[in-house]
Amino acid sequence: MCNCETNKYWDLFEDVMKNYTGAQSQLIPLLQKLQETYGYLPRDVIEKLSEKTGIFVSQIMGVVTFYSQFRLQPIGKNIVRICFGTACHVVGAENIADSICRELGIELGGTTEDKMFTVESVACIGCCSLAPAVMINDETHGRLTPDSARKVIKDFKSENS
Ligand code: FES
Repeated sequence: MCNCETNKYWDLFEDVMKNYTGAQSQLIPLLQKLQETYGYLPRDVIEKLSEKTGIFVSQIMGVVTFYSQFRLQPIGKNIVRICFGTACHVVGAENIADSICRELGIELGGTTEDKMFTVESVACIGCCSLAPAVMINDETHGRLTPDSARKVIKDFKSENS
């Protein structure tokens, strides 16, 4: 990283910290804002946050690992959300997830090496009548089968390459 990039990286951090008043109750909102800024919570950012707030890294990590909304790894450019809500679960969300993960060559929760895709499991995405359903970014795909789910991913890849 050149110096200008390093400066920019920490300027973003200082921007988030501008509204910090010293209250420990601000930890979660700060973590949310930092994740929004960096896309995830890099280790050096957590260390810097600890330095600034006086909250131990171990305490921060306790919070980060407790809440599933926080990520410690960078995410891909495109997010594939596989619905594991009840309606989707009973009609084979598991098989859809297997098929998509196999197509992308990653585990559920993982990110492809080229950082193009992150696959997440989520609770109901609000279109149960289309179960089993998946979202790619903001677009919903429903009534999937393992084969059609694989095709949705393949088509998305070719349209976006
Ligand atoms: S349970 Fe999957 S969309 Fe509602």
